Amino acid sequence: MSTAVREKSQAIKPPQVKDQPLLIGGKWLDSVSGKTFPTVNPATGEVICQVAEGDKADIDLAVKAARKAFEEGPWRRMNASERGRLLNRLADLIERNQEELAALETLDNGKPYRDALAADLPLTIKCYRYYAGWADKIHGKTIPVEGQYFCYTRHEPVGVVGQIIPWNFPLLMQAWKWGPALACGNTLVLKPAEQTPLTALRVAQLAQEAGFPDGVINVVPGYGPTAGAALSSHMDVDKVAFTGEHTTGQIIMEAAARSNLKRVSLELGGKSPNVVFADADLDAAVEGAYFGLFFNQGQCCCAGSRLFVEEKIHEEFVERLVKKAKNQKVGDPFDLTTTQGPQVSQEQCDRILSYIEAGRKDGANLLTGGQRIGTRGYFIEPTVFTNVTDDMKIAREEIFGPVMNILRFKDVQEVVKRGNQTFYGLAAAVWTRDIKKAYTLANGLRAGTVWINCYDVFDAAAPFGGFKMSGIGRELGEYALEMYTEVKTVYVNLD
Ligand code: NAI
Ligand code: MG
Repeated sequence: MSTAVREKSQAIKPPQVKDQPLLIGGKWLDSVSGKTFPTVNPATGEVICQVAEGDKADIDLAVKAARKAFEEGPWRRMNASERGRLLNRLADLIERNQEELAALETLDNGKPYRDALAADLPLTIKCYRYYAGWADKIHGKTIPVEGQYFCYTRHEPVGVVGQIIPWNFPLLMQAWKWGPALACGNTLVLKPAEQTPLTALRVAQLAQEAGFPDGVINVVPGYGPTAGAALSSHMDVDKVAFTGEHTTGQIIMEAAARSNLKRVSLELGGKSPNVVFADADLDAAVEGAYFGLFFNQGQCCCAGSRLFVEEKIHEEFVERLVKKAKNQKVGDPFDLTTTQGPQVSQEQCDRILSYIEAGRKDGANLLTGGQRIGTRGYFIEPTVFTNVTDDMKIAREEIFGPVMNILRFKDVQEVVKRGNQTFYGLAAAVWTRDIKKAYTLANGLRAGTVWINCYDVFDAAAPFGGFKMSGIGRELGEYALEMYTEVKTVYVNLD
């Protein structure tokens, strides 16, 4: 528990932050152009500080440093167990500074401090520890081929990897990318989201303190179409890993294809069905449905944004959910009693409000919310729509905000079919006491993760990623190692 909670203070003091440089080859530098960009506190709209704005020239330098560290540095020669030790040390340092990091995340992203400390930090720390454990357990096979040959495989690092992450879980997305990349022995260039560069830079500082060799980790903040594009189209980057919007994923994949056919892994959006049957534990289902959508201000790739409720319990369920939405405390994310903070930016706020407008126009029934709160900061009321139909824009597109869409259904086969009527396939959930219904949905829904009588359960050991246009590849668990290794086959002539 944080110091502040122990002292029973209601609000944490936001940290003071200096202007930020970028990290290339172990050095903290200004950008080549000398340009900077502001990062904004979404709770107030005020500028927190200026950050060095990386562009193509900085990406070139960072890739050079990462290549040098990969080819010549001590990184490739050190024992695999030593890489694990460095990752563990980084986890320890993050843990030791978790209150500072949670406050920095809250300042830059707007998520309630309480949530950052209870969810983002422990998941981040566990992710680094999990991959620290893998570092010396990544190995190939011996294969009984025909003839007088000894055949074996080696699982080698891919090389220099570019990583582009979003703003919704900055610390955690960094951990999901860095953990497996470093455990496997790659070197990396990270481009954090322009909305939230601060924790990435602080963690990079901690990685230096942990003792990662210079050039293994490089962090270049900047914008997508400039720094991000330079990274994904770079001829000397061996792999690009991305999390964000599916249309950006398409641009990145195209850039990868047109440059050097670098490996691509993508974790994209979703329009995940969350299905509540009449026989479910209703208290748990209401809690789970609320949490599954409104957690993190609705800014989750796996948000349960199509809530299918069985007709028989529709009235009662909706009544309870609306009551819960009306009881939220939206406001200062540093206040420990706040349950919902601001959206990350003006742009996201406007985008969400335009979806709410579309819901109204298409004839969905707005039961609560629907408005921006005040004009300072980017706060939106928890919003619930009923009478949503499959064809409406709000039922098809990712809203990424505190907007719940409730759809009715009658039977199992119908809801499986409708649940799958989307080009996304990231996650799904089902609430029921009937094992057959749970099983039918778990098998029938085309999604990378299915939660049964729970939502948003994550563990560093269990893979996460998407079917269909929700992505390519899996992060977390043993599965992520495949995305950061190349398999080499060696034949030895024994004749
Ligand atoms: P985005 O996908 O454009 O941005 C994510 C990252 O990609 C950022 O670091 C950004 O700088 C970078 N990027 C943008 N354009 C790029 C390009 N041409 N080349 C290389 N990198 C590029 O997402 P954005 O614009 O912040 O949010 C728009 C929508 O995307 C949201 O409303 C939400 O629906 C979705 N989204 C989904 C996320 C997820 O976790 N699946 C996370 C963030 C956004
Ligand atoms: Mg974008």
